[in-house]
Amino acid sequence: MRETRSFDQDQTPRPPAAAGFFSGVHREIWDDADSLLHTKPKEPQRMSESSSRQIVIFDTTLRDGEQSPGASMNLYEKMEVAQALVELGVDVIEAGFPIASPGDFNAVREIAKTVRGSVICGLARCRPEDIDRAWEAVKYAEQPRIHVFLATSAIHREHKLKMDKAEIVQRAVEGVKRAVDYCPDVEFSPEDAVRTEIDFLCQVVEAAIDVGATTVNIPDTVGYATPAHMRRVIEILRNRVPNIDRAVISVHCHNDLGMAVANSLAAVEAGAGQVECTVNGIGERAGNCSLEEIVMALKTRNDFYHAHTRVVSQRIVPTSRLVATVTGIQVQRNKAIVGQNAFAHEAGIHQDGMLKERTTYEIMRPEDVGLTMSDLVLGKHSGRAALADRAKALGYRLTGEQLNLVFDEFKELADKKKEIYDGDIAALIEQQIHGVSELWSLESYQVTSGTGKVPEVTLSVRRGSEVLSSHKVCGDGPVDAVFLAIEELTGISVVCRDFRVHSVTVGKDAQGEVMVQLEYQGELYRGHGVSTDSIEASAKAFLNAINRIASVGNGSQQPSKIR
Ligand code: KIV
Ligand code: ZN
Repeated sequence: MRETRSFDQDQTPRPPAAAGFFSGVHREIWDDADSLLHTKPKEPQRMSESSSRQIVIFDTTLRDGEQSPGASMNLYEKMEVAQALVELGVDVIEAGFPIASPGDFNAVREIAKTVRGSVICGLARCRPEDIDRAWEAVKYAEQPRIHVFLATSAIHREHKLKMDKAEIVQRAVEGVKRAVDYCPDVEFSPEDAVRTEIDFLCQVVEAAIDVGATTVNIPDTVGYATPAHMRRVIEILRNRVPNIDRAVISVHCHNDLGMAVANSLAAVEAGAGQVECTVNGIGERAGNCSLEEIVMALKTRNDFYHAHTRVVSQRIVPTSRLVATVTGIQVQRNKAIVGQNAFAHEAGIHQDGMLKERTTYEIMRPEDVGLTMSDLVLGKHSGRAALADRAKALGYRLTGEQLNLVFDEFKELADKKKEIYDGDIAALIEQQIHGVSELWSLESYQVTSGTGKVPEVTLSVRRGSEVLSSHKVCGDGPVDAVFLAIEELTGISVVCRDFRVHSVTVGKDAQGEVMVQLEYQGELYRGHGVSTDSIEASAKAFLNAINRIASVGNGSQQPSKIR
């Protein structure tokens, strides 16, 4: 292996060393970074002003995103998200961490077997058993990738791995070599790269490329970087690693300081060719770089970055909705690109400007991210064709059978509610297409409650042709009473860890959408239900989660995991 080039140090004043626990590490990073200020940076991999380079979008919603607490998905949900990611146009799908559990392995293997159109990647530590397992799972893919990682920072070396620098390089080299023996497309990540001494980072990256890594990913594992810092790390790698042109430089930024997207953009500016991100920015702790934000930033500011992606931006909102529904993690109202308020203009002065010329206050068009602004109202006289049309405009592709089921629900809803909005239709569709097989369904319920009164509930559930009923005086409110009756009838006793209700649209007759998270035998299960009656929505959500629990017992679904 060749030596990495090193730069002369000079007397430039340095930023003050950070105080506290990490200060030693910080000083080392800055010592090296200073040297770059006095070297002529390599020309960025930027084309002429008029041309634009393609940035590879590596989506890790199914791996890092799934590591968000409570965001775990079952096999069916993962397959659906993977298919949606292909339609979104992402280049690489990191489908999971196959050694982590049999469920992860199966999901990666099934996605590799069935999903076509994107590279399918499996994560592995630099250990033979991990790499073998990752290959076992991804080998069926049209275009497989193995992603091996090993921590390189002093903190991780000393406290987690108890390995010295030489051992780290050797382990990284062995890991990449083993992966390359299986597969020509190998990505290597020095975990916690941003807090790794820059000389050592260059050395590890060079060694990994030398033995065949085709992508080198620079993770900001703990979300510590700032844009200027990130730009400098990428510039240093491009200047000092002699074989760097043989690999694509990637970045993987966490959002602990709220700068994941800004840091990823800075890396692109410095020459990175791949960005790792997740839909809605979900992921460990504060999450990852958000796919929709990085993609729209590159699209909207192509004038500045001269870079673009293959993402079909009109698929962004439907994909965001899908991920929010299957993970139960809703996006905040003011979230950039996909939040409910992202394209709402409230101030009079803004509305006035918009009416005169939309570009006065709008840098992107809502339709470019797949947001239909019509909110055309449907009602009881609307037919199947009108519903199919709205579903299509909202980004859903329904099979004939799904359309029939949604249409039945739509008619039922239209009897209760005069005006049916896009939000109502989306909620009905999502309930249908992301449901689990229904072992139990709600037949009817009645509950009376009041101040200072213990609720009285009568509730029936259907299981096949059988209807089971319960009458109880119990609980500390009507929702609690309904949950207790369902537990009694199904024989499944759970702890309710989360319960959220919000209205899907506006108005007093709006549908309520309930999300619950139930704990059963150490695992978390989500449930989702909608109705114009919020107690009924709660009962449906509870039963939806109970059906998930039951289907795991049947072996037809993968269990969720508590992270
Ligand atoms: O944040 C991180 O360092 C990771 C690696 C596995 C790439 O997720
Ligand atoms: Zn990560």
